[in-house]
Amino acid sequence: MEKVRLGIVGVGNISQLNVPGYLEHPGCDVVALCDAKVERARELAKTWGVPKVYGSLDDLLADDGIDAVEILTPTFLHAEHVVAAARAGKHVSCQKPIANSVEEARRMVRACADAGVTFRVTENCCYYPPLERARQLVADGAIGTPTVIRVKTVVGHTESEFQASVDPEGYIWRFDERSPGGHLFDDVMHKYAMAMWLVGEDVTSVQAVVRKGRLFFEAPMVALLEYARHDLLGIMEVEHAPGMFIESDWFGADEFFEIQGTDGFVWVTRLSGRLHDLPPLVLRSGRETRVESDLDDRYEVSFARAAAGFVDGLLSGTQPDLSPTAALKTLQLAFAVYLASNEHRPVDPRSIEGAVSPPWWPKKPAELIEDVMALGLMPEEMPPVDEGSPFAGLT
Ligand SMILES: NC(=O)c1ccc[n+]([C@@H]2O[C@H](COP(=O)([O-])OP(=O)(O)OC[C@H]3O[C@@H](n4cnc5c(N)ncnc54)[C@H](O)[C@@H]3O)[C@@H](O)[C@H]2O)c1
Repeated sequence: MEKVRLGIVGVGNISQLNVPGYLEHPGCDVVALCDAKVERARELAKTWGVPKVYGSLDDLLADDGIDAVEILTPTFLHAEHVVAAARAGKHVSCQKPIANSVEEARRMVRACADAGVTFRVTENCCYYPPLERARQLVADGAIGTPTVIRVKTVVGHTESEFQASVDPEGYIWRFDERSPGGHLFDDVMHKYAMAMWLVGEDVTSVQAVVRKGRLFFEAPMVALLEYARHDLLGIMEVEHAPGMFIESDWFGADEFFEIQGTDGFVWVTRLSGRLHDLPPLVLRSGRETRVESDLDDRYEVSFARAAAGFVDGLLSGTQPDLSPTAALKTLQLAFAVYLASNEHRPVDPRSIEGAVSPPWWPKKPAELIEDVMALGLMPEEMPPVDEGSPFAGLT
């Protein structure tokens, strides 16, 4: 293949971040957009100069002028859409989370393998330059042998143009029975992926306490991870701080990653937000502390590079990140956190088949209204999302 002819399926909220990288890539032609809301697809096709528009996935998949698809539909549709694309012989990139259950994910992997097409799950964090650099430093031995990885996520509020323009409809399916969980199944999926990808080790046991938060938040949450290598542990924490402002051009969330090793540590101090007035990466190695201020730490760059990763993988015949195996392990880790908390016991993520939800999930409409009132948001103020909204930071 000399050039990838790509179709985009689903042009909702995340398409603003996800599509530009494909439009810019010299090895890719975005030849079609598809959305159940065909008018939205038509408008975006005009803006982006995309020649064809489809209102149904079947029609797009019947188009012989398309080699590959990027699936940007709601997570509960990923299995159906990826299997259909594979059967039509298209290479597939699909947004995280891979699917709503381990069984669905296995079915998707099998369909792609049977069809002989490439399948990767879009995990933009793998392409965020500071995280990529941290992984490289760890692999090169700059901190010795990693001993503890710590990943903190805090969701506050922000005033970004992007956040204000988010279509609230994109959150309805995240709040109801079409999703097995809330924020931990959504944004935190990125952090579960990083907990393994940064150190190149699998998690073998999880202990966790997950508290019921407001709206779809499951916070505070603290998890303790054991890895296949006995002397490596992980700590993950998630907090909801709706009254805290976070500087961001995108979502009102902030992340902090620390990998401690026998000879030093590496910090990545941001992702979508810029809460800390620190360089994006700090390395302590032996006696020396080095900061890497020249790394491109713009969140949007991770999406452009993720798009390029898929195209380059297809052109070179190599598997782009995340591999389906890594995405499946990430999904199992997410469910293991729920199960460990539900049953107050350590859980091996590899034992999980199916899906796990918190006991209160999904919340009843009356509870959601109570949350809205408690947060000082009248229902009619919810759309559009604005400053101070607890919807800020949903990724
Ligand atoms: N990498 C990230 O940081 C990130 C951020 C946000 C969302 N995501 C993931 O991207 C996916 C989409 O999220 P979103 O926020 O853009 O959701 P969204 O609801 O805003 O957009 C989904 C789009 O799919 C369309 N759609 C629904 N059913 C369809 C069908 N059968 N055929 C064609 N189009 C259909 C909808 O009309 C909508 O335009 C989710 O899996 C989500 O987890 C990833």
